[in-house]
Amino acid sequence: MMLNEILPIKYPIIMAPMFLVTNVKMMLAAMDSGIAGCIPALNFRTLAEFEKALIILQKTGKCYGVNLIVNKSNYKLQDQLNLCLQYKVPFIITSLGSPEKVISACRSAGIKVFCDVSEMAFAHKAARFAPDALIAVLNNAGGHHGHLSAEQFIPALRTAFPSIPVISAGGVGDHKSYINKLNLGVSGVSIGSVFIASEESDVTAEYKEACVHYGAADIVSTTKLSGVPCTVINTPYVRDMGLRENWLERFLHRNKRFKKWLKMIVYKRGMSLLQKAAFSASYQKVWCAGPTIEYTTEILPIQEIVRRLVQNID
Ligand SMILES: Cc1cc2nc3c(=O)[nH]c(=O)nc-3n(C[C@H](O)[C@H](O)[C@H](O)COP(=O)(O)O)c2cc1C
Repeated sequence: MMLNEILPIKYPIIMAPMFLVTNVKMMLAAMDSGIAGCIPALNFRTLAEFEKALIILQKTGKCYGVNLIVNKSNYKLQDQLNLCLQYKVPFIITSLGSPEKVISACRSAGIKVFCDVSEMAFAHKAARFAPDALIAVLNNAGGHHGHLSAEQFIPALRTAFPSIPVISAGGVGDHKSYINKLNLGVSGVSIGSVFIASEESDVTAEYKEACVHYGAADIVSTTKLSGVPCTVINTPYVRDMGLRENWLERFLHRNKRFKKWLKMIVYKRGMSLLQKAAFSASYQKVWCAGPTIEYTTEILPIQEIVRRLVQNID
């Protein structure tokens, strides 16, 4: 079943959730363009701000989603989930943990749940709870990328879980790459990086210009931001910072007592670096983006980005 049969949207596309980047303006523009938007609950500093956004999105009567981080680092999960249930958010994307709690709460509320999976072992765990779709996070996805190519991962998921729709995340930036993914038999695609340099995005002009000027060859994967591999633009600052843990971090990581604290410190420092680089003229230029910025040649309104992706297949 295609994503535009699962959700009331024109094209089988989700504007993927992007930490710090996705905002309500982008969501409204995505929904007006015939695709679904999905926003990370973590993009709101407070629950009150999150609720205010849900009220605006719900009023449109269109299809939107919320991304919930379901691992232990998200201590606000239960409150965020409660608000999603209260406002009957049309769909939720779970990432970085077990979707069990979210799926069981959403099923009776009629909320669809799609689960990010980056390898077969995670897919087997998530499939046990019968999600409405699995999102195959590929090796060329932006953000926390997977390790398998589309050609490896998508057929494997479709064979292992014939009754669960598969959505592909990663590598789509133009019409050709969009059609190529659909030809692999996925139900739809989740697209992030090409929306960073959109007019509606609130990140700095410098971050957007970087998406225009840098390309796929400038994307590197670092564990320095969150402890798990994440794609960033290889700016001089990123090169100086290095992509892997230094010897002291590796030593602390191996130590049972320090491991948990180190993880927390790395995560906090990484998130604060990303935040500064996204919204201020910081010299610490750590911009998260995936290889599909190759397709970003100018800053455009979301409507036009979507039009270029879906051309000729109305
Ligand atoms: C800047 C950025 C931030 C992201 N933040 C999140 C996030 O908060 N939660 C999540 O599930 N995925 C996140 N992702 C991954 C996207 O949802 C999606 O899987 C990815 O962008 C697809 O690959 P693409 O960039 O090639 O389109 C992020 C990706 C980018 C580029």
